[in-house]
Amino acid sequence: MRYKDVRDAWKADPEAFWMQAADEISWDRPPSKALFDADHPNYEWFSDGMVNTCWNAVDRHVEAGRGDQIAIQHESPITHATKGVTYTELRDRVATLAGALKMRGIEKGDRVIIYMPMIPEALIAMLACARIGAIHCVVFGGFAAAELAVRIDDCTPKAIIAASCGLEPGRVVHYKPLVDAAIDQAQHKPEFCVIFQREQEVAKLTPGRDFSWHGFQYGVKAADCIPVEGNHPAYILYTSGTTGQPKGVVRHTAGHLVALQWSMKNIYNIEAGDRFWAASDVGWVVGHSYICYGPLIAGATTVVFEGKPVGTPHPGAFWRTIQNMRIKSFFTAPTALRAIRREDPKGEWIKRYKLHDLQALFLAGERADPDTIKWAQEHLNVPVIDHWWQTETGWAIAANPLGIERLPVKIGSPSVAMPGYDVRVLDEGGHVVKSGTLGAIAIKLPLPPGTLPTLWNAQDRFRTSYLQQFPGYYETGDAGYMDDDGYLYIMARTDDVINVAGHRLSTGAMEEVLAAHPDVAECAVIGAADPLKGQVPIGFVCLNTGTTKPHQQIIQDCVQMMRDQIGPVAAFKLGCVVDRLPKTRSGKILRATMAKIADGEPFRMPATIDDPAILDEVSMALRALGYPNFKGHAA
Ligand code: COA
Ligand code: AMP
Repeated sequence: MRYKDVRDAWKADPEAFWMQAADEISWDRPPSKALFDADHPNYEWFSDGMVNTCWNAVDRHVEAGRGDQIAIQHESPITHATKGVTYTELRDRVATLAGALKMRGIEKGDRVIIYMPMIPEALIAMLACARIGAIHCVVFGGFAAAELAVRIDDCTPKAIIAASCGLEPGRVVHYKPLVDAAIDQAQHKPEFCVIFQREQEVAKLTPGRDFSWHGFQYGVKAADCIPVEGNHPAYILYTSGTTGQPKGVVRHTAGHLVALQWSMKNIYNIEAGDRFWAASDVGWVVGHSYICYGPLIAGATTVVFEGKPVGTPHPGAFWRTIQNMRIKSFFTAPTALRAIRREDPKGEWIKRYKLHDLQALFLAGERADPDTIKWAQEHLNVPVIDHWWQTETGWAIAANPLGIERLPVKIGSPSVAMPGYDVRVLDEGGHVVKSGTLGAIAIKLPLPPGTLPTLWNAQDRFRTSYLQQFPGYYETGDAGYMDDDGYLYIMARTDDVINVAGHRLSTGAMEEVLAAHPDVAECAVIGAADPLKGQVPIGFVCLNTGTTKPHQQIIQDCVQMMRDQIGPVAAFKLGCVVDRLPKTRSGKILRATMAKIADGEPFRMPATIDDPAILDEVSMALRALGYPNFKGHAA
């Protein structure tokens, strides 16, 4: 079978294509059709089917005789733990936790926030929610209490499941005090918390509200899988937009199952019994789709890795895990490879391990720079596949579908659109541009199964953020071009979202934090190119007249506020004080021009600029911070 044939088959009859893909899922009641479009431009998939995610990810594999296979392998170079959980054990542990949640009143449709580090219990908690139709909302551990509080108020969870702590190299992350602070800050109060006590730090429990993980489950009756409607939300995952209020991406159950199963086989070439590892975090979409659900739905073995590409304890940590776990397909972010390459430019650590089982390396989360791809190709000697997607889509928009056909790799391109995605590059007026011409990347509606149908509590924002700019299309927020062979090139964001170490962050949210400093009158945050993290944020602040505090102290305050309000993941360490910010005559801050100055890139003086001299001041401030310090790797 060739990719072109598969894509043609989808184009010719999308309904038949997705109904056939749906055959791979175990339904309690099969759907009568694939696409539900009566309420367009709101589209849903398999809405009248009845199905359970946990059954498909766990129980059905035990029934099929895979009970003794390792479902989840936990590898923690930080705690030195290495432990497998079989499919049978997983089913029993998930069913017990689900039973305990049910006994405490969690019902279908209730929200449960999960705030956990990379331990199997995080997946067990997600699957326990899925088992009883509760909607989980996993929050990344690198976010501060204030971000957790925002999510608590938006999705109003009945319960929070957390661990006592997370472990970063050389530092314990005190999860439980963060949970307590978030609950204090939030208007909405969850009814109870379940805390997984780790031996590295045992947390204090609040009597009457908090339960310990084990005590909570003692003596309860295991819960069965509850079938839910195809359009029942499986989860909410918050992601950064242009404002400080994160967007709650909703994922419907049935489309999620069908799309992930399809992608495991056709993109990653993974089937039941194979071993797959996505080195990400359950707090991100990669973790949802390809640490938890995708590999388990496919009946494969997945790895929960609590460590870093470097420093835990050495730059061979990834390769050792790939060897020991006999990983077939590996998925990571380019930034992780850049970190390894910086410490091991000749690939000496790679040579120490036997990577015979590895057949492909997949990269996503940010632009994969050609140097990093070439380094990985040379040292790993397997296809290095860049693929492009977003929290909103949940699975790859563009990829090289290894399970169908290995297409020629064009370095710098995440290859071609997957079936279901009709990708177009548009000019400002919404017209399709010629191949090779830069434009906004949009996807013709409907989006395929597994993609977001809406934003939680924010249908209007869903429409204005994604559907309004180009009627009939979903606006990805990325800009780029397509070549004559249909290969896409993703070049930049069209909004103020930046990508730091593969993490998607909102400069708008960071500006809200800076603006709250009592001495700050006005501010701007830009993303500047960074050789390791892809981008790093830089803040510019203008001070209130009469401020006497030393500038350095104000910047230090800002760095600390960012850590306290957004979290360490913001990686905000650089800031400067300027007299004025460059603006257009209508008052819009020229962030893109400032970013170009930071990167040492040529720029055209905006015709509408209010006062060009301010750009000189910005240049001087950036020079004092060491920018432009190099030619960005993505150039
Ligand atoms: N919980 C708490 N804190 C966390 C965290 C977590 N889960 N993850 C990261 N942080 C903290 C880090 O400890 C760091 O804190 P510090 O400022 O005190 O040092 C801060 O957030 C910034 O983290 P990061 O940007 O990741 O930088 P780093 O220097 O710790 O590591 C890399 C650099 C490249 C090794 C690391 O970013 C990496 O492995 N990136 C891959 C990212 C990835 O897989 N993304 C998934 C997208 S597919
Ligand atoms: P997230 O929602 O956190 O997964 O971030 C999605 C964004 O990351 C996309 O909109 C892109 O801007 C960027 N991104 C993800 N994968 C790639 C890729 N392969 N190439 C370029 N940019 C990417």
